[in-house]
Amino acid sequence: MHVFLGITGASGAPYAARLLQGFAAAGAQVGVCASASAGEVIAWEIYRDRTIPPEQAVERFVTEYGGEGATLYGERDWFAPYASGSAKVDSYVICPCSMATCGTIASSSQANLIHRAASVALKERRPLILVPREMPLSVLHLRALTTLTEAGAMVAPASPGFYTHPESVADMVDFVAGRVLDLCGIDHALLQRWGSA
Ligand SMILES: Cc1cc2nc3c(=O)[nH]c(=O)nc-3n(C[C@H](O)[C@H](O)[C@H](O)COP(=O)(O)O)c2cc1C
Repeated sequence: MHVFLGITGASGAPYAARLLQGFAAAGAQVGVCASASAGEVIAWEIYRDRTIPPEQAVERFVTEYGGEGATLYGERDWFAPYASGSAKVDSYVICPCSMATCGTIASSSQANLIHRAASVALKERRPLILVPREMPLSVLHLRALTTLTEAGAMVAPASPGFYTHPESVADMVDFVAGRVLDLCGIDHALLQRWGSA
């Protein structure tokens, strides 16, 4: 299994951490690209230290959570496999996905490798899973999400369910990460499935 994970500057870095762990546990090959804003959010939400330079935060994050199967690519690395449809990639995930990145992909702009990878996924008709986080949503956000869905992306909002009776924030993070792993076809035991004992 070969997956691309784009991490952007929406709140929700713990979801990306859990996803990286899930990919590693499944032995997946993962190409990671994080925006500069993602580095700021990771520094704040994971390490609770705004003074960590964004690039340093991202490198530390991918090393700690991604394991040996994860490779980090720069935002402007157009020589990365994810910049072309000729590279074989099973699924593309952007988690968390900022509304800025949603809007950019919906407009077909490609300012960084994350936008480019998403564009490649859509043109090649491959799974593209977007995990947006914002509230409330403006009509501009809703239009962008509709456009992306019409183009073939799956919009999987970071909205944990409560029917599994989560007992901790970690349980709620696992719920969202587990559903995203489901969409990638990756086995995991992060959530209790409805109807199971
Ligand atoms: C701590 C923090 C939390 C943020 N949370 C969100 C969010 O939940 N959703 C969002 O769309 N933008 C959020 N932003 C703003 C984005 O980081 C900003 O729009 C940025 O330009 C996104 O760029 P990117 O898509 O290239 O990462 C947040 C920023 C910070 C610093």
